[in-house]
Amino acid sequence: KWSVDNADPMKMNYPQLKEAAALLQQEEVVAFPTETVYGLGANALSDQAVQKIFEAKGRPGDNPLIVHITKKEQLTGLVDNLPQVAEKLMDAFWPGPLTLVLKSKGSVSRYVTAGLDTVAVRMPDHPVALALMEVAGLPLAAPSANLSGKPSPTSAAHVDEDLNGKIAGIVDGGSTGVGLESTVVDCTTEIPVILRPGGVTKEQLEAVVGEVGVDPALTSQDQAPKSPGMKYTHYAPVAPVFLVEGGLDFLKSTVHKAQNDGKKVGLLVTEETKSQMGEAGDVMLACGTRSDLSTIATNLYDALRAFNATDVDIIFSETFPKSGMGAAIMNRLEKAAGHKVIKER
Ligand code: TXA
Ligand code: MG
Repeated sequence: KWSVDNADPMKMNYPQLKEAAALLQQEEVVAFPTETVYGLGANALSDQAVQKIFEAKGRPGDNPLIVHITKKEQLTGLVDNLPQVAEKLMDAFWPGPLTLVLKSKGSVSRYVTAGLDTVAVRMPDHPVALALMEVAGLPLAAPSANLSGKPSPTSAAHVDEDLNGKIAGIVDGGSTGVGLESTVVDCTTEIPVILRPGGVTKEQLEAVVGEVGVDPALTSQDQAPKSPGMKYTHYAPVAPVFLVEGGLDFLKSTVHKAQNDGKKVGLLVTEETKSQMGEAGDVMLACGTRSDLSTIATNLYDALRAFNATDVDIIFSETFPKSGMGAAIMNRLEKAAGHKVIKER
C-alpha cells in the first residue's frame, strides 16, 4: 500500500508511483483512486492482466470494463470512429466522471470488451490516477475496486476490506470526491444514450449536445440493459434494504412496526430527516444534506458499508427526486434495495 499526495503526486511521490506502475507493467492488478470511486487497474492491452481483474472481483466475464486514459490522443489507438457528439462531450467533461461507449478498434484485450464491438473509455479527473497512468505508460482497464455485488469503494480502506490479499497493491489517495461512478453514455447511436446515470447529470449533457436518450432498462425492469453490468445486483450491504416513500410520520411508523416485529432497524437518511426523527431506529446514519444532493452521492457507499459493522437486521432508506444528481443516487439505491419499496398509501 502506497500513500500518495493528491496535490502533486509526480513531485511528492514519484518512487511510490514507479513501484505501482512497475507492477502494472508486469501484468499485475493495482487499485487506485479516481474522482468517482477507487478503480482496480490492469494493463488494458494484456489478456493475462485483465483476466486477473475478473478473478479478484469475482466479476462475471460478460460484464465489460472501462478503459482509462490520460490524453485524448490515446483514443486513435482504441476507437474506430469518433462521432462529433463524442468530441463535444469530451471537450466539455474530460477529465471527469463521464464514460463514452465508442466503436472499438479491437486493440484492447478481448476480456475488456467482453466480446462487444464497442469499448468504453474515460479520462478520470484525479491527479493520482493520471500520474499513475502517465508513469506506467499504459491505458488501464479498471472497474470499481470492490467485490462484485458490494458497494463501490470510496476509500482505500474499503478496497482493503474487499480485496486484501487478492491484488498486488493499493495506491491510497484518500477519499474520492464524487462518490458515485461515472455516467456511461453510448455514442454509437444517432442520439447519445445514457446507459448508467452517474457523476455528470442528464441535464448537464443536454446543455452541451441537445437531446440525450436514456436506456429504457433504467426505467423499466422488463427491459434488458444495453450496459451489461446494469443487470447485476449491486451495492448491497448485508442487511436487506427497503426504500421508504412517504412523509416523516410514515417513516417513523414503518420503523416502529419493524421494531415491534423484533427487528433491529438501520436508517439511511439526510441530515434534515435525522434532525426531525429523534431517537428513531437502532442505527441512524445521515449521509448528506437534501439541499445539496452531491453530498449524498459523496457519502452514500460509505454509509451502506457502515451498516455492515452494525447488527441491524433491516435498513430503511429515504428516497430522492430522480432529477439532476438524484437520478444516479436513486439508481444505486434501487439496486441496493433490489427494487423493494414501501409506499405510503
Ligand atoms: O467511475 C467509474 O466509472 C469507475 C471508476 C473506477 O472509473 N469505474 C466503474 O467501472 O464503475 P465498472 O466496471 O464498475 O462499471 C463499468 C460499467 C458497467 O456497467 C459496464 O457494463 C459498462 O460500464 N460498460 C463497459 N463497457 C461497455 C460497453 N462497451 N458497452 C456498454 N456498457 C459498457
Ligand atoms: Mg462496479
